[in-house]
Amino acid sequence: MTFRKSIIDIQKIKSSGKKISMITAYDYSSGYLAEKAGVDIILIGDSMGQVVFGYDTTLPVSMEDIIRHTQMVVRGTENTHIVSDLPFMSYQVNVDQAVLNAGRLVKEGGCQSVKLEGGASMGAQVKAIVNAGIPVMGHLGLTPQSVNQLGGYRVQSRSKSQIRKIFNDIVELEKAGAFAVILELVPREVASALTQKVQIPVIGIGAGPDCDGQVQVFHDLLGLYKDFTPKHSRIYANIGDQITKSLGSYVADVISGDFPDDEESFHIEPGVLSDVFE
Ligand code: KIV
Repeated sequence: MTFRKSIIDIQKIKSSGKKISMITAYDYSSGYLAEKAGVDIILIGDSMGQVVFGYDTTLPVSMEDIIRHTQMVVRGTENTHIVSDLPFMSYQVNVDQAVLNAGRLVKEGGCQSVKLEGGASMGAQVKAIVNAGIPVMGHLGLTPQSVNQLGGYRVQSRSKSQIRKIFNDIVELEKAGAFAVILELVPREVASALTQKVQIPVIGIGAGPDCDGQVQVFHDLLGLYKDFTPKHSRIYANIGDQITKSLGSYVADVISGDFPDDEESFHIEPGVLSDVFE
């Protein structure tokens, strides 16, 4: 039996001074490709709400959605650590619901850990889930499930009071037992100071290069999501344009009759057809 990368392996990457690589994936093929590329952690993110389902926000994503897509990624991978997002309203209401839903992601989805958004106010949930034996990753800065309170997807923690709050939040998450924390859309200087403040790995997205690792959305790195390209992403390949161009060639070949040709067709033995229609 082979074990996937554990939270201990992830923490060891930090202590060895290497950077942690993390990417989202949402199905069998994207999981398979991400693992082949050598990422340490795959996140089944509720960003699937936007890049897979086409919603404006992550809020409509359900437990069933995350479980189903976690199962797909798990089937496409062998060694990578899999963390799944607890969707909006699956953990905020109370600790019991948080533990039960974290348990469903592990038991039915097959992930090794769960991620939830929020700091000190989520301390009780983090503690209870960890006490149930399930590792928890925190998520601070821009927390997309609170988009209606934040008023949009913008950089957080620029003012002194916000910086004091995020310092307290990360310390409280570490005390509650979180094994790592995502920092999203936080100024580089703040992210750098937060990374030095705690022992647990800090993984950034739009938080500059000084974090212990980086996470990005699969579709953003590959030019697959055309609605919006975040400033913090780097487009490593314009696969979306390549797909459109390739499918355009297919459409043209169908219309012209060039596809399929005889090589792409199946045949019967000579004489069979004439026997049938004799
Ligand atoms: O859902 C997601 O993809 C995330 C990342 C942005 C960290 O939470």
